[in-house]
Amino acid sequence: MNKNKKWSFTLAAAGVLLAGSSVFAEPSFQPGAPWPATDGVHIDAHGGAILYENNTYYWFGELQTGGRRRLPAVSVYTSTDLYHWTNGGAVLTRSTDTNSDFRAGCTVERPKVLHNPKTGKYVMWFHLELAGRGYNAARVAVAVSDTVAGPYQYVSSFRPNGNMSRDMNLYLDDDGQAYEIYSARDNYDLRICRLSDDFLSATTNDVLIAGDHREGPAPFKYHGRYYLITSACTGFAPNAANYYTADNLMGPWTAHPNPCVGPKAATTFDGQSTAVLPLPGRPGAFIFMADRWMPRDLKNSGHIWLPIQIKDGQLTITWQDEWNLGWFDKNPQ
Ligand code: DGJ
Repeated sequence: MNKNKKWSFTLAAAGVLLAGSSVFAEPSFQPGAPWPATDGVHIDAHGGAILYENNTYYWFGELQTGGRRRLPAVSVYTSTDLYHWTNGGAVLTRSTDTNSDFRAGCTVERPKVLHNPKTGKYVMWFHLELAGRGYNAARVAVAVSDTVAGPYQYVSSFRPNGNMSRDMNLYLDDDGQAYEIYSARDNYDLRICRLSDDFLSATTNDVLIAGDHREGPAPFKYHGRYYLITSACTGFAPNAANYYTADNLMGPWTAHPNPCVGPKAATTFDGQSTAVLPLPGRPGAFIFMADRWMPRDLKNSGHIWLPIQIKDGQLTITWQDEWNLGWFDKNPQ
């Protein structure tokens, strides 16, 4: 091997070790690029969100490998550094009981998990569409587990206070109260509903956020103010994000224009909001999480993670080909 060849071989090996990162000496995020877990396979957790427990991140999402409506429904991946993820497999599986609302053939989207300290249970909520009924059922469903990494048992599905419930997210406030934020009235309304104390059902404390035809709700809180990033409703095709702010979860909420900046900002970088991850122990550090849907190959849909900048109460999400958590040190809020 001549000297040059040896050098390029060493670089190539380093590239593999760094999981594809090219610019950074440390691990990095490459928004939209294939993101293999430690098993070498692209992370199959879509429309999801992350729960942080005992120094570990648990990333729950739609499990699409092998088909959209087969038995495995929700996956979990675990990480201690947010860059490297281990596949924990299916944590929620559709029922083989042909009479169940949750039987194979039903559609499961946007799973989110909270821990309830009062009951000790982990509670998952997700959007459920009944087998063979397209998107007409418009229900939310609940599953529970005694352990964070499952398996979760299906409990029930319903329309909160009679409202359709499609795209959804959960929000756990500082006072321990939890909320469902959901698209209702054929996605024209975005609503927020307080959950019961055990997080297993909806209370009647349920109000309209906005009637702007939005979905993909991704809430977070900073300095006592609530933020809610959303998408428009164009199926799996990307569109422009917007966001809402409020001083109180039950409103009033104020709409703001697209916070995205950079190439393809008008289509949320060809993605759709799914969640915002607050970095534990780093006040003001938030990661925007979006899906770059590939409707004909959902399992390989991309993950777009970008840092959120907040200045004078206004959000900016700027495209970066590559970044790492050091960004938050260089850009304190
Ligand atoms: C948009 C939603 O945000 C997705 O979760 C999914 O339901 C697609 N529509 C289906 O077209």
